[in-house]
Amino acid sequence: MNISGKTKLLGLIGNPVEHSFSPFIHNMFAQELGIDSVYTTFKVENGELGNAIKGAKALNIQGMNVTVPYKMDVLAYMDEVDSLAEHIGAMNTIVRRDNKFIGYNTDALGLKGSLEHEGVNLKGESVLIIGAGGAARAVAVMCADAGAKLIAITNRTMEKAEALASYIDERYEVETVALDLELVRAGEGSLMESLKIAFQTTSVGMSPNIDADPLEDSHYYDYVKVAVDLIYNPTTTKFMEKASAKGAKAISGLGMLYFQAVKAYELWNDVVIPETVLNKCYKAFFEKMAR
Ligand code: ATR
Repeated sequence: MNISGKTKLLGLIGNPVEHSFSPFIHNMFAQELGIDSVYTTFKVENGELGNAIKGAKALNIQGMNVTVPYKMDVLAYMDEVDSLAEHIGAMNTIVRRDNKFIGYNTDALGLKGSLEHEGVNLKGESVLIIGAGGAARAVAVMCADAGAKLIAITNRTMEKAEALASYIDERYEVETVALDLELVRAGEGSLMESLKIAFQTTSVGMSPNIDADPLEDSHYYDYVKVAVDLIYNPTTTKFMEKASAKGAKAISGLGMLYFQAVKAYELWNDVVIPETVLNKCYKAFFEKMAR
């Protein structure tokens, strides 16, 4: 790495940030693409977000990622917000353009990219979203935006599933339905059979509780064709394992993590990362995570 006075500075703000994989990914992209950029992390203490954003702008920083706990609060400091990020109500990427800071949600764009990489298209599909928190909202907006036909939402707390279904209803043409988690666990009803793609957005099954899955012994595992987990630790969750055992394609949250970085790096540098580089870095990232 050759850092000079011309090197483009990129980084991550959040708290904590020291265990982030983003520096590894973005500095690998820079090296593989021959782009003169460097990416590092900035720990921002509670109450300092506004100062951090103003400082980044004044210091001519060209792009930033934003992570926990600032993904929602940072929206207020943007000059403009991309419509997808606005509908989700959260963002993770700042792009500097004409001295303006523009907010994007590449978590959602990355999930879409990960599905495309696996040959999964959401257009006209009926999907099931398990969970109704912030991550579920991002998934629901992404599915609606990508032209899904029907979005079913199930959650431990039914009221939150209903609230998310209404939220999507108010903004998109897509059909929505909130489903009782016990019904989904039973896996009964013709609707269940039509929900071919499922997104697991809860923390159930995350390390160290790796034997848990939100659907337990549901018959729904007989119907699902593509099972997407947003969890990336472990890389294969119980939810993915059970779906795979019944012949479904299982997709780890690691893909989303990788492709959110791809989308951010492409926006910051106004490039499209070529397939060969994309695949080479994907492999290197997955190998690093497997260690
Ligand atoms: P995130 O931003 O990651 O989505 P969140 O907004 O706190 O986090 O949402 C967490 C989601 O995981 C919710 O859908 C939550 O269900 P409730 O709305 O009923 O709280 C779900 N969740 C968390 N722990 C769970 C558990 N042990 N069993 C079932 N669902 C759980």
